[in-house]
Amino acid sequence: MLNNNIFIRKFNNCDREDIRRISCDTAFLEEPRKVFFDDDEILADALTLYFTDYEPDSCFVAVKNDKIIGYIIGTTDVKLMQKIFFIRIIPLLIIKALNKRIIFKRNTLNFLIHILLSLLKGEFIRPDFSKKYPATLHINIDKAFRRQNIGKQLIEYYLKFLKEKNVSGVHFGVISESAKEFFIKLGFNILFRSKLSYLRYYLGKFIPYYILGNLLK
Ligand SMILES: CC(C)(COP(=O)(O)OP(=O)(O)OC[C@H]1O[C@@H](n2cnc3c(N)ncnc32)[C@H](O)[C@@H]1OP(=O)(O)O)[C@@H](O)C(=O)NCCC(=O)NCCS
Repeated sequence: MLNNNIFIRKFNNCDREDIRRISCDTAFLEEPRKVFFDDDEILADALTLYFTDYEPDSCFVAVKNDKIIGYIIGTTDVKLMQKIFFIRIIPLLIIKALNKRIIFKRNTLNFLIHILLSLLKGEFIRPDFSKKYPATLHINIDKAFRRQNIGKQLIEYYLKFLKEKNVSGVHFGVISESAKEFFIKLGFNILFRSKLSYLRYYLGKFIPYYILGNLLK
């Protein structure tokens, strides 16, 4: 039990919709997501489906009065995650996008074109850290509950879980200076930094991209 009746527990399937909702809320930093993408189901699939449906044992939630107020989802094997993402999840996303005709919506098409341009410019080419740091994570706290130590407790809980599994390290990407500061404070190191241009058409500036890591052995 943390302070204010908040506690952390393992994920179970009835938490799935809450995790998907919170993930959509912060998908594009603090910007309104509809500016970029029209379909919450596809967005939530892209952000969370692997974790909740293929590796639920590596997912944990923070709960207050039966309400999910934050989560940490991850994998102990990034290579396996990438394989399943490419073989199973991307085809599913494409089928859903075609069925729902979302690529014909102007905002979504615009966003996808800019993602493609970033891809062609090589902005998604990154060093492979998966040997030393085979795990990854994605953390999100409902806006109303931030700065109450919940993020820190979820990270500590998750790192303990990884150590018990004998995992040698964890790494992940962040696209916000503020999230980077949070992780630095908790002892993570910057392994890689770059800039991304795919939101520049809307924000008028590049966004930062950091890969952060923590060795557990
Ligand atoms: C980043 C995030 C997880 C932090 O969670 P949180 O519950 O608000 O953070 P905590 O209250 O546990 O803060 C822990 C420590 O980090 C510091 N901290 C938290 N957010 C910070 C920020 N934006 N900048 C600098 N320090 C920060 C706190 O001051 C605290 O320090 P202290 O122990 O010295 O008091 C939360 O803001 C969030 O969900 N953001 C949106 C999603 C996101 O960016 N996820 C990361 C990518 S996976």
